Amino acid sequence: DWTPANIVDDAVAQIRTIVGDKRVLCGLSGGVDSAVAAALLHKAIGDQLVCVFVDHGLLREGEAEQVEQDFVAATDVRLVVKNVAEVFLRELDGVTDPETKRKIIGREFIRAFEVATREINADEPIEFLAQGTLYPDVVESGGGEGAANIKSHHNVGGLPDDLQFKLIEPLRTLFKDEVRAVGAELGLPEAMVWRQPFPGPGLAIRIIGAVTEDRLAILRRADSIAREELENAGLYRDIWQMPVVLLADVRSVGVQGDGRTYGHPIVLRPVTSEDAMTADWGRLPYDLLEKISTRITNEVRDVNRVVLDVTSKPPGTIEWE
Ligand code: XMP
Repeated sequence: DWTPANIVDDAVAQIRTIVGDKRVLCGLSGGVDSAVAAALLHKAIGDQLVCVFVDHGLLREGEAEQVEQDFVAATDVRLVVKNVAEVFLRELDGVTDPETKRKIIGREFIRAFEVATREINADEPIEFLAQGTLYPDVVESGGGEGAANIKSHHNVGGLPDDLQFKLIEPLRTLFKDEVRAVGAELGLPEAMVWRQPFPGPGLAIRIIGAVTEDRLAILRRADSIAREELENAGLYRDIWQMPVVLLADVRSVGVQGDGRTYGHPIVLRPVTSEDAMTADWGRLPYDLLEKISTRITNEVRDVNRVVLDVTSKPPGTIEWE
């Protein structure tokens, strides 16, 4: 019988066999896959696991705290946090081109992860690097042996040649819904287990225009309100994801209280999807849309308009950049 408890027991046994008394490094992103991989590893090998969280300052409200506090409290993992928000803001200064943003973020992320990895490795040599690869990715890349499979891997995650680890992928036989069930079984925070997909480059690709601390703060508030109301309406798990986008270089005229405003639009991009390859725009109830719109325009400074994206994918992508 395939229960989450069985899956956990199996994975724990396999991880122990593979890892022995060696050390494992696991990067946390805030997402469900890396969190569940880390929790499984910790259950199997305890403090032989070290986790690294690179906080690039582009996550949503509460997400860094979720990793640093709630996740650590729930699992007791050893966590090294690299706070590089300032570096990211500096490197992204004035950059508006989507691909350039992505390149800078990818490069700086690897750089910060590499620094953390070198420090840990110098202290206590690491043998394995864990990744939260799921079964669909394994199939797609033509692999597919047993659980907690390992393969040696050159240049893991873009790390330089002198930092070579074996790869361990404790989720490689699981589908997403099984990963969530395992996460719940291991007592991970609900918000983490049910987190919707969120892009690696984070809020930077949801600010249309250059990324600044001020714009990030505005978008975080708007996103937090939209997520909260989607949850209150009981629709969070029916919607694949709902990017909230700040049109930072666009202004429109509005009126509020007894004055004219000249603020930025926020775009809601709710989508339904099976795998993010194609998507349809999510038909949210009008009263929910009204509530989100009213709250965002009332509560978020510099935002005076909320618009709804009604484009399927294709032709639109899910993200705006
Ligand atoms: P698009 O915008 O291409 O997005 O329709 C498809 C799915 O991928 C996510 N996404 C990313 N995820 N790094 C990621 O980890 C990225 O650079 C990235 N870009 C898009 C997006 O949120 C959606 O789920």
